[in-house]
Amino acid sequence: MSYQKVGDGRAPDVRANRLSTQQTALTLSIVVPTKNEAQNVLPLLKRLESAVVSEDIAAKDVEVIFVDDSDDDTPAKIEEAGRQSSFAISSIVRPRERRNGLGMAVVEGMQIARGTWVVVMDGDLQHPPELIPQLLQKARSTEADLVAGSRLAEGGSADSLGWRRKLLSQALAQFSRFIFSKNLRSITDPLTGFFLFRRSAVNPDYLRPKGFKILLEILVRCPKLKVAEVPFEFGQRLSGKSKASPREMIALFEQMAGLRFAPHEHLFRFLMVGLSGLVVNTLLMFVLVDFLGFHYVLGAIAATQGSTLWNFEWTERWVFGNRELPGRRLWVRMLSFFVVNNSMLLLRGPMLIFFVASLGMHHLLGNFASLVVMTALRFLIADRFIWGSGNKSRQDIYYYNIHDIIRVRSMRRLPELRYFSVSEVIAEPDIDVIVTTNLDGYLSDKSITYEEMLGSLGFSIVINQKETRTDVIASPLIGMSPHVLYTNVVEPLLRWTFVRKGYALMHGACLAIDGKALFVTARTDTGKTTTILQTMRNNLDKVTFLSDDMTIVSRDGRVMNYPKPLTISLHTLRAVTEAPLTISQRLFLQVQSRLHSRGGRKAGLWLSHNSVPAATLNAIVQKLIPPPKYMIDELIPRARHTSEAQLSHVVLIERGPDFEATLDEIEKARVLVENAEDAYGFPPYPTLAHALCHWNGIDLHVSEAEIVTAATQNLPAIHLRSPRFDWYRRLPHFLQEPVIELPTKSEVLDWPAPGLRPSGSA
Ligand code: GDD
Ligand code: MN
Repeated sequence: MSYQKVGDGRAPDVRANRLSTQQTALTLSIVVPTKNEAQNVLPLLKRLESAVVSEDIAAKDVEVIFVDDSDDDTPAKIEEAGRQSSFAISSIVRPRERRNGLGMAVVEGMQIARGTWVVVMDGDLQHPPELIPQLLQKARSTEADLVAGSRLAEGGSADSLGWRRKLLSQALAQFSRFIFSKNLRSITDPLTGFFLFRRSAVNPDYLRPKGFKILLEILVRCPKLKVAEVPFEFGQRLSGKSKASPREMIALFEQMAGLRFAPHEHLFRFLMVGLSGLVVNTLLMFVLVDFLGFHYVLGAIAATQGSTLWNFEWTERWVFGNRELPGRRLWVRMLSFFVVNNSMLLLRGPMLIFFVASLGMHHLLGNFASLVVMTALRFLIADRFIWGSGNKSRQDIYYYNIHDIIRVRSMRRLPELRYFSVSEVIAEPDIDVIVTTNLDGYLSDKSITYEEMLGSLGFSIVINQKETRTDVIASPLIGMSPHVLYTNVVEPLLRWTFVRKGYALMHGACLAIDGKALFVTARTDTGKTTTILQTMRNNLDKVTFLSDDMTIVSRDGRVMNYPKPLTISLHTLRAVTEAPLTISQRLFLQVQSRLHSRGGRKAGLWLSHNSVPAATLNAIVQKLIPPPKYMIDELIPRARHTSEAQLSHVVLIERGPDFEATLDEIEKARVLVENAEDAYGFPPYPTLAHALCHWNGIDLHVSEAEIVTAATQNLPAIHLRSPRFDWYRRLPHFLQEPVIELPTKSEVLDWPAPGLRPSGSA
């Protein structure tokens, strides 16, 4: 149809063309990297034409982009093919230096692609063009952003490679899946060179592949992609020979190392500088005290200033040397660095006392922990503030729509609400979350405020309730820690907003079978999350998930799902051994689950009762060590969600001697109300609760209790007690057995002794 040569090897031309060609949209762009494939170009195009053109796709909707690094007459063949083909053909003939081989060639092709969908495939016909319609079909039916052709999935084959290369290729695929287990979870063949993706979902400017493995680069750099795969049989090369070589292997390992450590590069350098600083400090101390006769305290102070200067110099030049720092002055950075370092030294003592005396750590562990926290804090401040790129244009806004009941707009990501995240702009939110240093600018005489110390530098919020909207203005410290922003600020607000709209956010988990929902409530730390996970995994084809912690109910007993990520503990993980977490996630969990355990929370509460700025500390700690939270599908990949069900049973689980009994209406109401309050308690909630729950002269507690009572009226409520954490065995039965006749609680307790009546047989 047409042939166009994009650039003749000089990069600027490529760019110019990129602008002019991107005007018209096509359905499909096929990017083919070529290196000495002269005999394959024509046959490839022939097969592509008969495979791709269908009722659905016309030839005029397809372009083929060759990105060529050949030394033979491939370019001439492409030109010739271009004149004959019914597709639009472009070619990029790359400059002599041919940056980074095959992978970068593909990226350059992606940069000029115009199609809604982009296919990447080899030019030697080892990738059957007939698979393309299937890839597209799969992408459309599963709404995937990327569909990979897999040689290693069931139904695929790589036999044509010969046994040696096949084995190697399988081993490498396994290895990379091990290294990047989080990103490559659902991909069997991350090293395949044949895949299709939605152009809008992958920005080629972020990709910097080395060597062959372009798909790996995409999957790791774009972790949010929804991926799928289609098996295929890897064919024989039509003509010419393979360019795979030991060098490509080395490039693959380099690429993997780069991808793995890229996110931590600055941290790594920062730590190296810190270590070198220790050496400098010791040397200076030695010289000052032992040679120049300084007093050792004076020596230490001087040595510290010397090593700080050393650290500053290297941090400036090497750690963040590659950053653009618009209009900030060197001396400001230097001064900040010195102030931060010295004040950190002063903070270490109190922190050590906190770890040892309040958290009960061993003093050596406590000392080490305080060092780690200090280093982390110093890095954080250096990374964000002193050398932060000040990129304020990155003013992202996040939108969440909770069942069309509450719409939230937020200047920070609220990870707990990610299930409800939407991409459309919400112009009139019910809750608007603003993060700014200028809290005063939002103050009015009706504002509800909470502040601990340091003003807008610490934990500080302003809440303005208007007729149709609640504005929450949070200080930057809270904005830094999204979990705190959600849990301690947004969730309490959600609770009362739901009530105003006629719903209750009930504290409890919810599972369903066939549209009938079981509401499970318990005291905090009973083992509810573990119970829910175990019930789910043991009944995957029957039970669906609505929520683990909070459930939305309406007066008529409808429940709507609220799937926040589950906060897990080591204990939980022991229950779902198959959870596909990576090794580093598991290791980190050791630390996380200690800190976010009951002990950790108690220490926090203790602090808050002793007029320590608990919320401020909490925000800092949660920023450094976020709580271990995972969505149910991250723990049980086959778990299914239900968005709505009809409430059918209420179950209270409790630890203690076995029994199982019916709760009467009064007890049921009491339990539900008590456990509702149990969810909130950490500052600033108690302070805010009073102000928040009054609206237009109504006490919303009363309305909430009314909704809950109406929703659960006449539903069977079961009190299930066990000392063995085995409630999960009973839960599904309640929804399945048509009628359950249980004794009432008083009957159970009247009869000989509570412990004697086995509950399993009921
Ligand atoms: N532009 C460009 N530059 N193209 C290249 C280069 C390069 O440096 N090296 C190879 N190609 C082209 C080839 O011309 C061919 O079209 C395609 O990339 C694949 O190269 P082959 O040499 O045929 O590689 P292979 O068949 O051994 O490897 C295949 O399997 C690997 C997994 O085992 C490819 O599909 C790889 O992409 C895949 O990773
Ligand atoms: Mn090949």
